[in-house]
Amino acid sequence: MDQTHVEGDLELDQTLFTEEQIRHRLGEMAAQIQADYEGQDLLLVGVLKGAVMVMADLARSLDRHVEMDWMAISSYGSGTKSSGVVRILKDLDTDLKDRHVLVVEDIIDTGLTLSWLIANLRSRGPASVEIATLLRKPEAQQMEVGAKYVGFDIPNAFVVGYGLDYDEKYRNLRCIGTLAEHVYS
Ligand code: IMP
Repeated sequence: MDQTHVEGDLELDQTLFTEEQIRHRLGEMAAQIQADYEGQDLLLVGVLKGAVMVMADLARSLDRHVEMDWMAISSYGSGTKSSGVVRILKDLDTDLKDRHVLVVEDIIDTGLTLSWLIANLRSRGPASVEIATLLRKPEAQQMEVGAKYVGFDIPNAFVVGYGLDYDEKYRNLRCIGTLAEHVYS
């Protein structure tokens, strides 16, 4: 099946990044990560569910050993705004003591969820904690989240695809785009 013609694509207002652009940028990020962590062990921590695609492609772009672990967290908030009050639904299986941890994220919006998560992970005695995110919105820059690896800075619009959902849909799109207004109005 031609994946550029999946049903969801018809509901996209604008494609921001094609599959090819995403793959290319993740390759560049992987090269940087590989250089920075040379000679060190590396644990990739993904946040479910949005980071699944980024994790899968970023990890496969790394030509070295990595471990992967996952957390599921829920952020209490109203509608599409997160509040920064977070509950762990699934914790890591890995002990972080003295580990080099790289949190792999799909998007940083307000940064509230991530700043809570980073503080939580830092309290577990890791050797280091850094963040790699495919997307970052401008608002995120107002919070001190400090992502070391950022794929693309994007405008303040709601985006879907490549792991990102609207009402649990569109995660399986290969590209990233903005939703057509008729979908949510
Ligand atoms: P934050 O705490 O405001 O940074 O939001 C974190 C989470 O909100 C992300 O991990 C996403 O799951 C979700 N999110 C934020 N912006 C978008 C978007 O544009 N599309 C889909 N999900 C988003």
